[in-house]
Amino acid sequence: MLDIQKIRADFPILSQTVNGKPLVYFDNGATSQKPQIVIDAIEKYYQEINANIHRGVHTLSQLATDAYEISRGKVQQHINAKFTHEVLFTPGTTHGINLVTNGFASILKPGDEVLVSALEHHSNIVPWQMLCEKTGAVLKVIPMNEDGELIMDAFDALLSEKTKVVTVNHISNALGIINPIKYIIEKAHAVGAAVLIDGAQAVPHLKPDVQDLDCDFYVFSGHKMCGPTGTGILYGKEAWLNKLPPYQGGGEMIKEVTFEKTTYADLPHKFEAGTPNIAGGIVLGTAIDYLNNIGFDNIQEHEEELLEYATKRLLEIEGLRIYGTGKNKASVVSFNIDGIHPYDIGSIIDKLGIAVRTGHHCAQPIMNFFCIPGTIRASFSFYNTKEEIDLMVDAVKKAKTMLS
Ligand code: ALA
Repeated sequence: MLDIQKIRADFPILSQTVNGKPLVYFDNGATSQKPQIVIDAIEKYYQEINANIHRGVHTLSQLATDAYEISRGKVQQHINAKFTHEVLFTPGTTHGINLVTNGFASILKPGDEVLVSALEHHSNIVPWQMLCEKTGAVLKVIPMNEDGELIMDAFDALLSEKTKVVTVNHISNALGIINPIKYIIEKAHAVGAAVLIDGAQAVPHLKPDVQDLDCDFYVFSGHKMCGPTGTGILYGKEAWLNKLPPYQGGGEMIKEVTFEKTTYADLPHKFEAGTPNIAGGIVLGTAIDYLNNIGFDNIQEHEEELLEYATKRLLEIEGLRIYGTGKNKASVVSFNIDGIHPYDIGSIIDKLGIAVRTGHHCAQPIMNFFCIPGTIRASFSFYNTKEEIDLMVDAVKKAKTMLS
């Protein structure tokens, strides 16, 4: 059992008032809050070891480089990658996906097929569309059902020897549905396709094991898992990372440069041109340590209780519909109330201190599927409580009365 009040004390922002009310932060799907240990680690980096990495023989540069590489090792262990050089630091999930789609531009041929799921965030649709436009490959969509679950029979039917890439999120940002990625990866591999998993919404809730999943790429952001913004990870299998061309040219990613020819550095540096977010990369390791100290089993147990409680309480409200009613879900509830625009509810409950996300959640195809402009999304973290859910339910009821 987690001592939630003790955990909440680690997050200074959670004791604030917003609009004169105690903050209830349910926008964790957009970004998580940061514990003091993470905030302190950023300050400590700039106060004590700030220097550029992989460049100097001087002491500070060595200290910064060591700290950065220790953090890479922590990520490797956390996701169980086989090698540290399979772990690339990026500015975030979007960058990681674009790095991969850019690489596939030299691999895909006209008529090849890329399968994306109907549940994707725009960042895992648009780069693939751009790639298909560039290469003449064809984008196909794994459809979903009314519960927000991907239809596996339809997926099986879409697979063929033309399928070169399958890309799907581990957990849907808009609905919270957990996708059967192990099955998807196995089936895609059976036809020789590569698989990219967008883990942005998964890593705050669970610990992915990339070797057990056997995915070719797994991408995520640091800021959704208590780390700083502008940090992210692209895991890629060694063979794939060796095969893909560099994404950006510049310093640090080369072996030798002449005006005639440049040879590229070994992994992971081949994909890490320029000065990275050094403090961010180091502190992502601090955030991972923090989460592992709490324990992902404990996190999951608590978040499951929150999900169950929030679902039950919200459904007490007449005219409220939840989107994403599939069984396998993370702690996200996306909902609407009959005849009321989600933005109106979001604005009113903000005045009552409740932070939720409203709109299409960068997943317009999902909204089109349900024929709605958007939803109200409450996304819970391990530091949230049932009392906060009660405050949200009361606020939604109040907003409904005002708007009806
Ligand atoms: N992708 C983030 C979200 O779903 C920003 O809210």
